[in-house]
Amino acid sequence: MTRVLSCIQPTGDVHLGNYLGALRNWVNGQHEKDVYHGIVDLHALTVTTESGVVGESTVSLAAMLFAIGLDPDVATIFVQSHVPEHSQLGWVMECTVSFGELSRMTQFKDKSAKRETDFVAAGLFTYPALQAADILLYDANEVPVGDDQRQHIEITRDIAIRFNSRFGETFVVPEAVTPAAGARVMDLQAPTSKMSKSADSDAGCVFLLDDPKAIEKKFKRAVTDSESEVRYSVTEKPGVSNLLDILAAAGGGTPAQLAEEYAQYGLLKADAASAVIAMLEPVQHRYRELMNDPGELQRLLNIGASKAQEQASATLNRAYEAIGLLPR
Ligand code: TRP
Repeated sequence: MTRVLSCIQPTGDVHLGNYLGALRNWVNGQHEKDVYHGIVDLHALTVTTESGVVGESTVSLAAMLFAIGLDPDVATIFVQSHVPEHSQLGWVMECTVSFGELSRMTQFKDKSAKRETDFVAAGLFTYPALQAADILLYDANEVPVGDDQRQHIEITRDIAIRFNSRFGETFVVPEAVTPAAGARVMDLQAPTSKMSKSADSDAGCVFLLDDPKAIEKKFKRAVTDSESEVRYSVTEKPGVSNLLDILAAAGGGTPAQLAEEYAQYGLLKADAASAVIAMLEPVQHRYRELMNDPGELQRLLNIGASKAQEQASATLNRAYEAIGLLPR
């Protein structure tokens, strides 16, 4: 069966764009392929300086992944730092990639340039080596990523091929694949930009943990246009079309069909809000249950950690043997 790996950094709260655009597909996808989902807390260290922050985000993200319906007995959900093989293979990867290759990574160039006056962690530079370890440890065939990560998968392939030719066939050479397309969810205040938590204010971004009142308010204030006709046209009516897309994704139906059922914006906004609230209600309920039961959450994460480590340690051993490190 095809092995798929995707990883997510524990930074910030999950919003509707993350959920409808990507995470919801993880839940459907878990039955189709052998999927591994890592919460890559060690990657988040490149931008973390405060104690406790990463751990807290990790717990919250883990609870959210289980709350949306990922099943630890079907998919392998694990925390990166629970599987020390990531760091161990990460060093081997650093010795298999060149300084020049890392210097050409656009994400490093962008991120380090933006932080010119600030502290630029060396980990920001070697980050792709750790990411290569994440992927190669699991013999992943496919890595679903957006365009911003394609270069990191390319370098992972180069590393795998180089290692295999130096030391003998050891790693599966992975492929970047385009994730199953989810709904495109735009910012409610700026409907021509994707919904994102980095927007100036939270008014256009619906978080999965927002309470119903906050969700209603955000939809009520959503930017539309100066007409009054409800029609689905992403280019001519981005705000209204975004509401229709969200309503369709949360409640069912197609945006164009739904458009015909509405004569005014107010009702469309109210129904979009209700559909989102209804969709999130069970997710929020399960999230709270898990957050109030740390023992259970830990149990679920331990299932993933064991499964992940079994695979990861076998691969690390294979790599050490291929190199010919002295066994203890
Ligand atoms: N670099 C990825 C990001 O910023 C996160 C990541 C870390 C990742 N390891 C990975 C993604 C392995 C896919 C596979 O989004």
